[in-house]
Amino acid sequence: MVIKSATFVVSNTKVSALPEANMPEYAFIGRSNVGKSSLINKLVNQNGLAKTSQKPGKTQLINHFLINEKWYIVDLPGYGYAKVSKTSREKWEKFIRAYLTKRENLQCVFVLIDSRLEPQKIDLEFCCWLGECGIPFALIYTKADKQSGVKTDQNVSKFHKSLKNWFEEIPPFFVTSSETGLGREKILEFIRQVNEDFVMPIIEKPNNNTQTS
Ligand code: GTP
Ligand code: MG
Repeated sequence: MVIKSATFVVSNTKVSALPEANMPEYAFIGRSNVGKSSLINKLVNQNGLAKTSQKPGKTQLINHFLINEKWYIVDLPGYGYAKVSKTSREKWEKFIRAYLTKRENLQCVFVLIDSRLEPQKIDLEFCCWLGECGIPFALIYTKADKQSGVKTDQNVSKFHKSLKNWFEEIPPFFVTSSETGLGREKILEFIRQVNEDFVMPIIEKPNNNTQTS
C-alpha cells in the first residue's frame, strides 16, 4: 500500500469524544518506550507525526491519525511505566480498556513487544485480556536492528511458546525496526487486506428523547 497522506486528527482523553467510527481503525499499544510512536512514523514515512521520546511515558492521550483519508492509526499511551502513580495507572486502565472494548470500527490492535527481551508478564497478560475480550490483535516485535537476527528469533519463539499456554493459535506477527524499515511493507499489506473487508459498523445513537408521537 502506498501512503499518500497522513494527518493528525485529534488527541483525546474521553472515549465519548473520539472521531466518528466510520472508517477502519488500528491501535498501537505496548509497554512504555517499546517504540509505538516511532513505528507509526516509519509506517507513514513521516518523522515527527507521532511524538517520540527517549523517556518513557511520552504518549499520554489517544491520538488519531488519518491515513490516505480512508483509515485511522491510533497511538496509545504505553503501559507498565513505573513512574506513574497508582491512581493514574488505574485511570489509564479504565480509559484504555473502555476504548479497546467499545470502539466499533477497531479492526486490529497491534501489540508491540520489545524483541530484545525475554517474554514479559505484563505483555502476556495484556494479550490474554485481549483474547478474553475477543478483540482481534497482532504482534509486532520492535527494535530488531538492535541485535542479531538469531537473538530476535529466539525471543520471538519464546514469546510464542508462552502464548501457547493460553492460545491455540498464534496471532499474526511482524518483526520490525523503525530504524531500517524492516516489517513495514508486511504490516501495510496486512492493513490493506483487512481494510478491504471493512463493513461499516451500525452505531447506536444515544436516545435524545425528541420523539414526538
Ligand atoms: P511512549 O509513548 O512513552 O509509551 O513510548 P513509545 O512506545 O511511543 O516509544 P517511542 O517511539 O517514543 O520510542 C522510544 C525510544 O526508542 C526512542 O528513543 C526511539 O528512538 C527508540 N526506538 C524506537 N523504535 C526503535 C527501533 O526500531 N530501533 C531503534 N534502534 N530504536 C528505536
Ligand atoms: Mg509514544
